[in-house]
Amino acid sequence: MAVSVVILAAGQGTRMKSKIPKVLHEISGKPMLFHAIEAALRLSDDITVVLYHEAEMIKQRIIKNYENINFHIQDAINFPGTGGAMMNVKTKHDKTLILNGDMPLVTNEALHKLTDNDADITMSVIMLDNPSGYGRVMIENTEVKHIVEQKDCSPEQLECKSVNAGVYCVKSDLLSRYIPKLNNSNAQKEYYLTDIIEMAVKDGLHVKPIFVDEEEFKGVNSKLDLSHAEDIMQDRIKTRWMTEGVIMRLPKTIYIDSRASFEGECILENGVTIIGDTKIVNSHIKAHSVVEESTLIDSDIGPMARIRPQSMITDTHIGNFVEVKKSLLNGVKAGHLSYLGDSKIDSGSNIGAGVITCNYDGKKKYKTVIGKNVFVGSDSQLVAPVVIEDDVMIAAGTTVTHDVGKGALAVSRVPMKIVANFFYKFFRK
Ligand code: UD1
Ligand code: MG
Repeated sequence: MAVSVVILAAGQGTRMKSKIPKVLHEISGKPMLFHAIEAALRLSDDITVVLYHEAEMIKQRIIKNYENINFHIQDAINFPGTGGAMMNVKTKHDKTLILNGDMPLVTNEALHKLTDNDADITMSVIMLDNPSGYGRVMIENTEVKHIVEQKDCSPEQLECKSVNAGVYCVKSDLLSRYIPKLNNSNAQKEYYLTDIIEMAVKDGLHVKPIFVDEEEFKGVNSKLDLSHAEDIMQDRIKTRWMTEGVIMRLPKTIYIDSRASFEGECILENGVTIIGDTKIVNSHIKAHSVVEESTLIDSDIGPMARIRPQSMITDTHIGNFVEVKKSLLNGVKAGHLSYLGDSKIDSGSNIGAGVITCNYDGKKKYKTVIGKNVFVGSDSQLVAPVVIEDDVMIAAGTTVTHDVGKGALAVSRVPMKIVANFFYKFFRK
């Protein structure tokens, strides 16, 4: 049966102690809310995100990345709380799945457990030894009776170990029946969505608890929670890529963005960081290298190299302490201590130790273009904009300040002088 999804994301997230709205804090390179949206997109064609705090900023971020998401702005001044968030939200299908926006670890399979059920309401329940922070779910004879928020619990209720994970699948007509009847007579003076459970039970409806894994339904409320969720997400991402054939040395020391992808035989050594939409094909990334928003094909990088955004590196060897930015390298060797920025370097070219592309004059960035089979001697500076044609030799220590034609030698050097016995004269007592 088709289902609509509503994601609650209007709250400020005070416990995060941050200027950034809670749902925009990132897990593995993506805002928490995007993880929830992606789980929802695999389930439904009717998704509504409820916003209030920083609504416009969050909405723009969503629109940039996803199509066909509906937005609803909560009247959070008059109707605060998760129940207030659901007021006047219209959904298309007979069933509505309600998710909290602060649950980045939820999977599509887990959500199916809630939607593939005939009860009037299904709700996610976790059994916890330490239930602190969550609403307590009172269950009798396998039926949910009501939910009590922590701040409203009696000492006895606080002991209850079945807690509300914050995901519900509700017959849509029940939402229009119960949401307008919510009130705010509770400790937080908020309209609790959770109160619809008791109303439904009073009307003799069937509310079924679905017991779910804590790991998938973890709510992120603090920066400590954020770090735990990141750990779990990283574990999932790395498990997936190792299953797909990527070798990882000491995987716990490696960080991989959720947008990164791998193909063929790849090796990641310890301490490697892969950021953003990076694609790595048949390549070896050595220890403690960082690769960001780039494509690497048939290449080896590092140890301790840094590949910055918009680089496209094919059939290339990059050694230690080399920084590459926005460059197109094809069949290049750059073994040691270089900065290659805004450059295009063609096959068979060798970049010696300490070569720097001087790409910035303090106002603008300029390009360095190097052709095929160029030998750039160590400690040379290439002052951009500059073009070096094929089959050129640049002598060590040269400052290249204008273009070099095919087949030429470029050399700029202060002639070396020898002064015999200088040492003995200088230090004579
Ligand atoms: C809520 C549940 C609690 C459950 C817990 C699970 C209620 C009343 N309580 O508590 O039973 O154990 O989640 O994580 O529902 N939001 C809005 N508008 C608001 C307030 C919140 O959209 O006015 C959104 C938040 O952005 C967030 C979600 O609802 O994504 C949950 O809000 P949060 O304040 O974290 O609720 P909890 O106190 O964790
Ligand atoms: Mg929460």
